[in-house]
Amino acid sequence: MCGIVAYVGHRQAYPIILKGLKRLEYRGYDSAGIALLNGGLNVYKKRGKVADLENHLADESLNSTIGIGHTRWATHGEPNDINAHPHYSSDEKLAIIHNGIIENYASLKKELEDRGHVFRSQTDSEVFIHFIEDIYNNNDIELEEAVRIALSKVIGAYAIVIMDSSEPDKLIAARKGSPMVFGIGENEFFIASDATPIIEYTNKVVYLNDYEIVVVKGGEFSIKSIENEVMTPYIHELDLKLESIEKGGFDHFMLKEIYEQPRSIADCLRGRLVSSQGHLVLGGLIEHMNKIVNADRIMIVACGTSWHAGLVAEYVIEELTRIPVEVEYASEFRYRNPIIRENDVVIAISQSGETADTLAAIELAKSKGAFIFGVCNVVGSSIARATHAGAYTHAGPEIGVASTKAFTAQVTVLTMMALMIAEKRGTISASTFHAILADLESIPQKVERALKLDGQIKAIAEMVASSNNALYLGRGYNFPVALEGALKLKEISYIHAEGYPAAEMKHGPIALIDEEMPVFVIATHDSGYEKIVSNIQEVKARKGKVIAVVTEGDTLVQSMADYTIQVPDTNEILMPLVSVIPLQLLSYHVAVIRGCNVDQPRNLAKSVTVE
Ligand code: G6P
Repeated sequence: MCGIVAYVGHRQAYPIILKGLKRLEYRGYDSAGIALLNGGLNVYKKRGKVADLENHLADESLNSTIGIGHTRWATHGEPNDINAHPHYSSDEKLAIIHNGIIENYASLKKELEDRGHVFRSQTDSEVFIHFIEDIYNNNDIELEEAVRIALSKVIGAYAIVIMDSSEPDKLIAARKGSPMVFGIGENEFFIASDATPIIEYTNKVVYLNDYEIVVVKGGEFSIKSIENEVMTPYIHELDLKLESIEKGGFDHFMLKEIYEQPRSIADCLRGRLVSSQGHLVLGGLIEHMNKIVNADRIMIVACGTSWHAGLVAEYVIEELTRIPVEVEYASEFRYRNPIIRENDVVIAISQSGETADTLAAIELAKSKGAFIFGVCNVVGSSIARATHAGAYTHAGPEIGVASTKAFTAQVTVLTMMALMIAEKRGTISASTFHAILADLESIPQKVERALKLDGQIKAIAEMVASSNNALYLGRGYNFPVALEGALKLKEISYIHAEGYPAAEMKHGPIALIDEEMPVFVIATHDSGYEKIVSNIQEVKARKGKVIAVVTEGDTLVQSMADYTIQVPDTNEILMPLVSVIPLQLLSYHVAVIRGCNVDQPRNLAKSVTVE
């Protein structure tokens, strides 16, 4: 939530910050702003997208080699020009950008108001900079010391950058709970919520840790802890490519990412699985194999689409390894005093690696002694660093807010994990193990084939686009796919959609079915096939419109359903990797037909760093 970018160096800051904000817009897009030192500390901000800010500034003279910028996802105060960041201190000598939430802002605000501070906005972030200013003005100390003292007193999460009008070459930044990457160039420095605004200029970055403060001044930088201890930074070399964060000819990032899946799944398998040699190795798992193989129970924590990947994993891991698995929303897990025993293993799944609830669930499980394994996409992210071990999904940057390629990569990694554990535990026969390896290796080609259904799916989307509601049904491995299909549709097209285990339909949703209601049924050839055929008949008997995802060559469902989408066959354990593809494409086309903003759906953000 909220994206931040800052620059200090020898180039013009405005274009660097503007481009950076556009790349970070997936994190929030209700308003944006920039502060520059051009004949004084000037703040420019505007409600709306970064492009609205850009238009608003078209005639301004924006010369400055230092600046900070912000794209907002509102938490405190409605999205408007005033609540947009950056925020000034009361004397307008300092400006701040902030990603996070200051939980004790109300009491701080009251104290500051009693001392004469007047606030222009309703944000917690403005309180933050006034608090720093108050400490600075009332003590004979450097600004960085005032920041440090303020940070030790605020409760909540933050990634902040502060500019001071009296020091034109200085930036102060700090983080706790919200991500921050510090880029080191030749006599220039960058700070951003992720590496995408930085990669064009340097591949040397430091991922700041919680409670670290970086001060850039006079072409040098230093990093200290909030306890004033000097930290030695670990400088990472990024191998992110610029092309991977651009649309590459597609109309939307979401479509590009859907089409990238044959490649992203192959990347996820690369070097880890070679079926002809019976080779399957997840480096992060090997070292901790005994711990996981002997787990009494596996608990999976995640949010959103990652939670759906966790649900697929529950079915796969239990089936193959016979270890009991529980899947929990991280936001529930963290607040319900869960029972976690020494021999429990917790798997945390997160595309961004920054989701606040998932991070908090990890910390809770850790404090109770559990071993935590992370499945993350973003390298160096907070969750990747907070876990004891993990495996990256290697899907590449996912920018569309609706997650697609991250889901299939997560399911791929979790399936590899299940296979490795099952082999070690002896709960799978050698022949089944080898057969699934071969099937898994062929998934990228099957996804490629499923993508060829795009034209047919577009035609179905025309019919669905005028609906107000939709139902998604699946059984077994395809039940989480039903949930994911419904989530994709509601996220980006704002059509109310619900996913259900097909047999549960008769306990409620069946009452909603009429001629107007599209019912998506994932009815591929698996052990629940006959049962789901009966469910299709139940829908048809009530005049529901059935759109079925079936296995190539299916004729039975074809004879009953209004539309069928035929996907390539694979082992039922792996079917979610294939059956989800048409549902992703369908949601995309429906959203485009309805004129929705596919990559930036209303009210949502890609990375939810608030609880
Ligand atoms: C947000 C995103 C979803 C994502 C969820 C969990 O809601 O819009 O696409 O599935 O967060 O995010 P994570 O990064 O932890 O997978």
